[in-house]
Amino acid sequence: MTNLNLVVCSVMITTLAFTLFTCDANNNNDDNPKLHIVYMGSLPETTNSYSPTSHHLNLLQQVIGDSNPANFLVRSYKRSFNGFAALLTNEQVAKLAEMEDVVSVFPSITFQTQTTRSWDFLGVPKAARRQPKSIESNLVVGVLDSRIWPESESFNDKDFTDPVPKKWKGTCAGGKNFTCNKKLIGARFYIDDSARDRVGHGSHTASIAAGNYVDNVAFFGIAQGTARGAVPSARIAAYKICKEQDCAGAAIFAAFDDAIADGVDIISISVGNTFPQSLETDTIVIGAFQAMAKGVLVSQSAGNSGPLPSSVASVAPWLLSVAANTIDRQIVDKVVLGNGKVLTGNSVNSFKSNGKKVPIALGNGNSNECPKESADQCTCLDRNLVKGKIVLCDKFNDAAPKFIGAAGAVVNLDTANVGYVTLLPLVALLPNDFELIKSYINSTKDPRAEILKSEVARDRNAPKVAKFSSRGPNILIPEILKPDVSAPGVNILAAYSPISTPTEDLVNDNRSVNYSIMSGTSMSCPHVSGIATYVKSFHPDWSPAAIKSAILTSATPMVRSSVHDVGEYGYGSGQANPVQALNPGLVYDINKGDYVQMLCNLGYDNDSIKLISGDVNPCKGAADRSLVRNLNYPTFAARILPNVTFNISFGRTVTNVGLANSSYRVTVTPNPEVKITVTPTFLSFKALNENKSFVVNVSGKVPRKSVVISSIIWSDRTHNVRSPIVIDVSSGDQK
Ligand SMILES: *[C@@H]1O[C@H](CO)[C@@H](O)[C@H](O)[C@H]1NC(C)=O
Ligand SMILES: *[C@@H]1O[C@H](CO)[C@@H](O)[C@H](O)[C@H]1NC(C)=O
Ligand SMILES: *[C@@H]1O[C@H](CO)[C@@H](O)[C@H](O)[C@H]1NC(C)=O
Ligand SMILES: *[C@@H]1O[C@H](CO)[C@@H](O)[C@H](O)[C@H]1NC(C)=O
Ligand SMILES: *[C@@H]1O[C@H](CO)[C@@H](O)[C@H](O)[C@H]1NC(C)=O
Ligand SMILES: *[C@@H]1O[C@H](CO)[C@@H](O)[C@H](O)[C@H]1NC(C)=O
Ligand SMILES: *[C@@H]1O[C@H](CO)[C@@H](O)[C@H](O)[C@H]1NC(C)=O
Ligand SMILES: *[C@@H]1O[C@H](CO)[C@@H](O)[C@H](O)[C@H]1NC(C)=O
Ligand SMILES: *[C@@H]1O[C@H](CO)[C@@H](O)[C@H](O)[C@H]1NC(C)=O
Ligand SMILES: *[C@@H]1O[C@H](CO)[C@@H](O)[C@H](O)[C@H]1NC(C)=O
Repeated sequence: MTNLNLVVCSVMITTLAFTLFTCDANNNNDDNPKLHIVYMGSLPETTNSYSPTSHHLNLLQQVIGDSNPANFLVRSYKRSFNGFAALLTNEQVAKLAEMEDVVSVFPSITFQTQTTRSWDFLGVPKAARRQPKSIESNLVVGVLDSRIWPESESFNDKDFTDPVPKKWKGTCAGGKNFTCNKKLIGARFYIDDSARDRVGHGSHTASIAAGNYVDNVAFFGIAQGTARGAVPSARIAAYKICKEQDCAGAAIFAAFDDAIADGVDIISISVGNTFPQSLETDTIVIGAFQAMAKGVLVSQSAGNSGPLPSSVASVAPWLLSVAANTIDRQIVDKVVLGNGKVLTGNSVNSFKSNGKKVPIALGNGNSNECPKESADQCTCLDRNLVKGKIVLCDKFNDAAPKFIGAAGAVVNLDTANVGYVTLLPLVALLPNDFELIKSYINSTKDPRAEILKSEVARDRNAPKVAKFSSRGPNILIPEILKPDVSAPGVNILAAYSPISTPTEDLVNDNRSVNYSIMSGTSMSCPHVSGIATYVKSFHPDWSPAAIKSAILTSATPMVRSSVHDVGEYGYGSGQANPVQALNPGLVYDINKGDYVQMLCNLGYDNDSIKLISGDVNPCKGAADRSLVRNLNYPTFAARILPNVTFNISFGRTVTNVGLANSSYRVTVTPNPEVKITVTPTFLSFKALNENKSFVVNVSGKVPRKSVVISSIIWSDRTHNVRSPIVIDVSSGDQK
């Protein structure tokens, strides 16, 4: 029985120009009733005479006294697990937490939300190998997000002839004037009064995962092509859990409860925290555990808090945590200076130039009205000085120049490869180029410039992890490498809500679009959700861990984004490779009991584990931290101390899913810092689904703080089953 008070930190995982960081400590002195989740674990096996709702009301009645408990019960969870959400004072929380049927009571934390080319870049052309429509259309992708625009062309059911799959137990309850079809087969909302998208984020993510083919889409002519998801014939069910960028824990919990019972195959959730929460109070972690136990893989965005080390907030081993990378189609825009020099920036500017060079505002609106610093950052501009001119901003800010009537803006941006959809003609330049335009202004009496509309260019350095993408190591469980894998998440064109605007600014922007460009791990997550669905269409009986293993061990290794970057902490196993993932050869499987055993070895006691899995007293024997490394994860990670001799061991078992009669030999990428042995080095299989075990030992003594990288590859010459090994030599505490 635990009542945990948390620090609530959150980040919005959407367009990066508007990334907000908020962090509010829970105020314990104020005892107004607040929304809490009362978690009661699994539902009873036999439910004939059991009514969860009356049980919930009964428990509530015991703590609220004379009032009508129905007025305080916000929602009952009764489809996939047991519990309820209610408005409770601290005193009532304490009483409930003591009750026998109650596993835990915790505040409803507020989380925040976080393609025309990307599928080709991933090697899945329009004519890629797929299962027949009748098989693909048996799969349902559950998207837990802001909401959806049901009339979007990406969700049309033109070519859907098969009826909704028999297993589907969901419903279309999107609110007034919300109709589903054979593509968008389900909708529910837990906040507001409709699942209709007024923001754009939810339509965007759903169409990346499983949107239908739509030819000739573009953003004001930019990035034209065919929009499509990974599995255009799969169905979509939308669960609205976010209001604008805020996603309440109570709503997230309800959506997991429904989605699992409705019969979704894969859950995609582009929502997360800024920092990892403790596992037992994170509704996404608990919801995903319940989903995993029912055979549903959950793919989550890694977060947009990079490149800070340990910024990855998606850390649980049963989640598939996705980083974001660039694709080879870059979106650039240019500014042409009065002296003919052309500078190239990285914003998404839809405004066509009239071909004239306009004056650059001298002194940038620095007047009595605006102090120099605010004028330089464009937070305060003097209308008389900037009207009709181009302003220079040291910081990204397009609302102020737009509002004050500037003709355009050139901003200083130290984030390469990230495109923002801009409110007015705007070029975001890297610092060196920004200095060049400053010296041009110095060199002439009448500085002028012309800002050109964005165009596409080829990026030969792709894929690279985006700067914003959250990085490892995993501070909660150093034995689990996070993020797991990377996928495209920069400048992705996908479906949008026509009643939003491309900047989500409803005051200063009046553009309506059906397709828009967004960046974030919010966009990379549904790519991997789509790939998981693609794998599942070929292997419907594979467990969530087997699907994840297939995606990780077949991913394409990437190169570091900068000299300061630890590559694997940016992209995990590499960029997901959908076609290779269909045929991985071997998989590292994990079942529910293995995860529970890992939690026991991690030092979680029986009560804490019950908070996550609902199991009673699952731990046998004493916790052994060194055995956490034996979780059958498809990657290898550990944290050790510098200057201390170590000798650590990872036990693994692989299952043959390639050719019945096959032999695999291991190759280790050597690293002079450590000694790595694999025993045995040869695995011979006689049948499909046969298991073989091996041990990887890493030993040595590393004199300084560093990260030691290696990898092993099991190969039968047809399949290459690759796993990175990442040893974090730091102030670690591992044996
Ligand atoms: C229903 O939604 C569609 C699409 O936005 C809109 O065109 C139509 O006017 C709406 N009808 C009502 C009755 O609100
Ligand atoms: C512009 O000129 C001023 C004065 O001549 C000088 O102090 C400043 O460094 C110059 N700025 C740039 C960016 O060249
Ligand atoms: C949007 O606003 C611009 C001026 O900022 C105006 O020229 C344009 O006509 C408006 N478009 C619509 C669709 O109202
Ligand atoms: C968006 O799609 C609707 C039909 O769903 C169409 O009427 C409208 O013209 C489209 N808007 C744009 C900007 O293409
Ligand atoms: C968990 O419960 C089992 C069974 O009662 C007991 O043997 C074990 O010691 C407990 N372990 C922990 C870590 O609480
Ligand atoms: C690691 O420890 C095991 C025994 O625990 C031993 O057999 C092995 O030789 C050691 N390896 C190294 C390189 O020290
Ligand atoms: C690997 O480590 C384990 C546990 O420390 C040990 O039992 C085994 O002998 C080691 N194997 C090798 C080849 O060092
Ligand atoms: C299995 O493969 C080996 C070597 O590739 C071959 O010698 C053997 O005959 C094969 N066995 C069967 C049953 O196909
Ligand atoms: C291989 O291991 C998996 C999971 O650990 C198990 O379900 C399966 O039965 C094993 N296969 C065989 C042939 O024993
Ligand atoms: C490791 O030991 C060496 C030699 O004793 C010493 O110079 C170095 O500072 C130590 N490194 C750390 C990280 O303690």
